[in-house]
Amino acid sequence: MPQYSPEPFRIKVVEPIRLPSSKERKAAIEAAGYNPFSLKAQDIFVDLLTDSGTGAMSHHQWAAMMQGDESYAGARSYYRLAEAITDIVGFRFFVPTHQGRAAENILSAVLVKPGNYVPSNMHFDTTDANIRARGGKPANLVIDEAFDPQDQHPFKGNMDIVKLKAFIERVGVENIPFGMVTVTNNAGGGQPLSMENIRAIAETYHGYGLPFYIDAARYAENAYFIKLREPGYAHKSPKEIAREMFSYADGMTMSAKKDAIVNIGGLLCLNDESVFQRVKNELILREGFPTYGGLAGRDLDAMAVGLYEALEEDYLAYRLGQTSYLSARLKEFGVQMIEPPGGHAIYIDAGHMLPHIPQAEFPGQALSVEMYLGGAIRGCEIGSVMFAHPDPDSGQMVYPKLELVRLALPRRTYTQSHLDYVADTIGEISQRAKQLRGFKFNYAPELLRHFTARFEPL
Ligand code: F0G
Repeated sequence: MPQYSPEPFRIKVVEPIRLPSSKERKAAIEAAGYNPFSLKAQDIFVDLLTDSGTGAMSHHQWAAMMQGDESYAGARSYYRLAEAITDIVGFRFFVPTHQGRAAENILSAVLVKPGNYVPSNMHFDTTDANIRARGGKPANLVIDEAFDPQDQHPFKGNMDIVKLKAFIERVGVENIPFGMVTVTNNAGGGQPLSMENIRAIAETYHGYGLPFYIDAARYAENAYFIKLREPGYAHKSPKEIAREMFSYADGMTMSAKKDAIVNIGGLLCLNDESVFQRVKNELILREGFPTYGGLAGRDLDAMAVGLYEALEEDYLAYRLGQTSYLSARLKEFGVQMIEPPGGHAIYIDAGHMLPHIPQAEFPGQALSVEMYLGGAIRGCEIGSVMFAHPDPDSGQMVYPKLELVRLALPRRTYTQSHLDYVADTIGEISQRAKQLRGFKFNYAPELLRHFTARFEPL
């Protein structure tokens, strides 16, 4: 039996969840047009759609919220958050934002000009979209191992430094306003980067005079992977490792809904004072006054406390233990996933489980619908529903390399028995996978169609 360290908390408040009957599940998914995004949350038993803003706050965080200072300018809450940021990430300036994509929007508005390129290992889709919205071109330069689901590379989120240098030479430094990297690499399976790689990325960007920004949504999970896997870091604390990571960069964007364990919030931090002036002006226009961003004072307090809690070692051991446990349990049924398991999620290879369903009939969608029918579990298709598109020149459909279903674990929310329930339900589905059928669209908008599309079973 795989094991992980017991939950380092006990439960003080509970939110009842209910398993709808099989008849109710059938009706609910049909009414949702076979799109789990359109289900009512109350009809779901275990919701693994995302780890974003869905975690449980601690009693320290709730207590801190009661001390929220709602002054429009200069609130005490702001200064408490500033103290945590100086201590943990160490950048000279910061602004709070309502969530991660707002920080990306402001950074792009201030720095990206039409025709500019922004390299990264892999941009998350909101970062990609914010760069494009300013006429920029995002580029993904992750190592090739990231595309082989069975490759056991310990740092599959690493950027390919050779590719990065060639890219900068090809497009020209004058066309790159800044470089980025995402830790951990959500778009590539929640995989971490090594400190050695982060250092090499920084040296490369700085060698060309380019500022370096980290997408730090899951920085604490990345820090703990470094502690577990990279020689020389076993005796360092996650906080020391995080500080070293940030010391190589010039700034960061962050969705605090992940590794600050809050329900809403984001950050944009940086060292460059003249950029900071412009960031503040843009923030005032889009989000709010610089000492509250798009948030209430109490949200800033919850974030200040959460930033520390996500770095606690027993929490991180349990956190990363949960994804490896779920992955090990699913393997007992022969279910294939992206290896090794990510920090916040596992990514089931639905194409492998359902080889009889062609990509045009959405194997990932078939598995996520069946997970709901089989046990009221919600995951997220990351495959052809999300990414297949016609080639602009030939009109031929272009399909993604992998048909995945992501199971993202909210922080401190589900217990080991929930994970066993998920593993047993999906394991059972995998044993009768041959009976599953594909889907076709009934309705699909042109952009971001996975959110609102409706389907019909084939
Ligand atoms: N960067 C990364 C790496 C992310 O995973 C996300 C969000 C964002 C930025 C945007 O942050 O949602 O606060 O605006 N990821 C969520 C997910 C939505 O489910 O993976 P946001």
